[in-house]
Amino acid sequence: MDKFIVEGGQRLKGKVAISGAKNAVLPVLAATLLTAGRNEIQGVPRVRDVFTMIRLLSYLGAKLESFEGDTLVIDTTGVNKSEAPYELVSTMRASCLVLGPLLARLGQAKVSLPGGCAIGARPMDLHIKGLEALGAKLDLNQGYIQGTAQKGLNGNRIYFDTVSVTGTANLMMAATLTEGETILENAAREPEVVFLADVLNLAGAKIVGQGTDVIIVQGTGALRPIECRIFPDRIEAGTFMIAAAITGGDVEITNCVPLHVEPLIYKLREAGIQVETGERSLRVLGNGGFRSIDIKTQPHPGFPTDLQAQTMALMTLAKGQSIIVENVFENRFMHAAELKRMGAEIFLDGHTAIVTGVEQLSGAPLMATDLRASASLVLAALAAKGESVISRVYHIDRGYEGIEEKLVRLGANIRRVS
Ligand code: UD1
Repeated sequence: MDKFIVEGGQRLKGKVAISGAKNAVLPVLAATLLTAGRNEIQGVPRVRDVFTMIRLLSYLGAKLESFEGDTLVIDTTGVNKSEAPYELVSTMRASCLVLGPLLARLGQAKVSLPGGCAIGARPMDLHIKGLEALGAKLDLNQGYIQGTAQKGLNGNRIYFDTVSVTGTANLMMAATLTEGETILENAAREPEVVFLADVLNLAGAKIVGQGTDVIIVQGTGALRPIECRIFPDRIEAGTFMIAAAITGGDVEITNCVPLHVEPLIYKLREAGIQVETGERSLRVLGNGGFRSIDIKTQPHPGFPTDLQAQTMALMTLAKGQSIIVENVFENRFMHAAELKRMGAEIFLDGHTAIVTGVEQLSGAPLMATDLRASASLVLAALAAKGESVISRVYHIDRGYEGIEEKLVRLGANIRRVS
C-alpha cells in the first residue's frame, strides 16, 4: 500500500490546473448505459473511481474503445448484463448509479449494496423508494438490491425527504426512458446534477428545472450516445485553495469555475485570506495568519461537506475558535483524531467540532480514513513542522488526479513510497 512522506513548511507558489470533476464524470459514465452506441467523454480525470466505473461498465457489456489523454470513448451497444457485483461496488458508493439506468434500459438490475467512504450509514432507501414509485419491484437479498421492471417504468411524482445527490441522479436517469412525466421534488441542486441533466438533454432527454429543487423529466423512447466535456472539479479546486492558505502561499488555480467554489471563497475571505477571482481561474494569497471561521455543511449551494475536512485542517492553525457543524453525514469527523495527533485542539460533540487554533502542528504518522479526510491530512502535513507519513493513500487516489505531482510543482515536499 502506498504512503505519502511529507516534509512540512514549504510555502506553495505557482500555478495548478484543476482536473475534470470526479462527481460529474461518474454519473455521466453511468448514463451511457441509457444509450446504445459510441459515447465520447472529454475532460475525464484519471482517478481510481473512474477506473472502477469503467470496469463496472465493461462487466455489464460495454466496450471501452479508448482512453487517451483525458478523452474516453465507450461503446454501450453490447450492454446485456444487469448485475453489478460486490467486488466492484464495495469500493465505490457511486456504483449504485447504474441501478436506475439498468432498470430503465434492461428492465432488470441486481446491484450490490454499496461501500465507498466510511462516512456514515449512507442508506439507499431514497433510491429504492423512488424507483418503486416509477413502478419497479425491488427486493433486498443477500447484500444485493434486486429490481425488475418487466413492463417498463412509468412517470410519477417523487419526493425526497432528504436531499440526495446520487439519489436525484439515479431517478433522473431512470426517468429519461420512462413512459410519461416524472417530477422530482426536493431534488439536489449540485452543479454535478445540473450538468448531468444538461448532458442527458443533449442526448435527447427532456429535463427541465435542473438547478432548482423541482426537476421535471418527460420520458422519451431512446437517447442518443453522449458527447460532452466534464467541467473542473470544485472539490479539488477548493483543496488547492486551502493548500495555498494553510502554507501562507500564493497559488493561481486555473481551469476552475469560481462560481462553484463560492461558499469557500466567502469563508476564506472571512478568515482574512486574499482570494482573487478571474473568469476561469482563482488566486489565493495566504499572508501567514488567518482568523477562525464557523462553517455548517449543507446541500448545494451551502458549504459542501466534501470540503469540511480540509477546512478543519485550516482552522487548526487559525487565530481563535471555530465551530464546524456537519449536517450532511453523521460520521464525518474521522480526520479529527488524526489532526489531534499532530497537536490540533479539537473537541467533538456529535455533529459539531470545536477547533481552537494552535501556533503549530507537528508532523506525525497518520492514517487516511476516507477520500476527503486524506486530503485534510495532506494539507495539515504541508503546514506542519517536520515529517508526516500518511498511510492508506489509496483513499486519496479515488478522487484526486496526481495530487502529489501537482503539489510538488507548487514547491511542496511530498513523495509517494510503495
Ligand atoms: C454525493 C457525492 C459525495 C458527497 C455527497 C454529499 C458523488 C459520487 N458523491 O454522495 O462526494 O459527499 O453527495 O454532497 O456525487 N441518504 C439517505 N438515503 C438515501 C441516500 C442518501 O438517507 O437513499 C442520506 C445520506 O446518508 C446523507 C444524505 O442523504 O446523510 C446525503 O447523501 P447523498 O447526497 O445521497 O450522498 P451521495 O450521493 O452518496
